[in-house]
Amino acid sequence: MIKAIVYTSNTGLTKEYAQILGTELKLPVYELKEVKNILSKGDQIAYLSWLMAGGLKGYGKAQRKYQIVTVCAVGMSRARTKQEEEIKKKYQLGEQFFYLQGGYDRTKLKGIYKLMMNTLEKALKPQLEAKENKNEEDLEMLEMMNSGKNCVRKENLDQVISYLKSRP
Ligand SMILES: Cc1cc2nc3c(=O)[nH]c(=O)nc-3n(C[C@H](O)[C@H](O)[C@H](O)COP(=O)(O)O)c2cc1C
Repeated sequence: MIKAIVYTSNTGLTKEYAQILGTELKLPVYELKEVKNILSKGDQIAYLSWLMAGGLKGYGKAQRKYQIVTVCAVGMSRARTKQEEEIKKKYQLGEQFFYLQGGYDRTKLKGIYKLMMNTLEKALKPQLEAKENKNEEDLEMLEMMNSGKNCVRKENLDQVISYLKSRP
């Protein structure tokens, strides 16, 4: 049986998803860095991580200590993109993997993460602005970079909840 929802979050969006999941499944919710003395090695968890340059933050650490039953990656891109397949392949995940669109808030970034995104925005924004026939995804990306966006919705967790509830 799953003991807890464990997450990493930089600007708070993954935390929001983790809290909704905890409420829906009536499970406690902990940030990875605080869970050391609360859970025991081998305990089953659902793990939610924010996405950083295609990587799941803290995944290695969580995997070494706990039995991860479900993995949710939270990023700024829309769901069902090539990125999801790449993450699944990189971490050798199957049906236990879910991608959730979190959003983006540049005002909450600090240090190295702020620098990294400043560089990315400088490269990507002019390209998108210059693009003719921008699709919905392009427009959303521009909106995120210009004014930020929170895409956290309970419905995005429906499949995760069904998956976890259907486990024996
Ligand atoms: C340095 C950096 C790298 C990022 N890399 C990715 C990425 O590879 N793919 C993606 O979809 N989002 C990426 N994002 C966006 C975050 O994953 C997204 O804003 C997420 O919702 C943040 O979750 P949080 O609020 O829990 O920190 C990146 C953000 C930062 C700051």
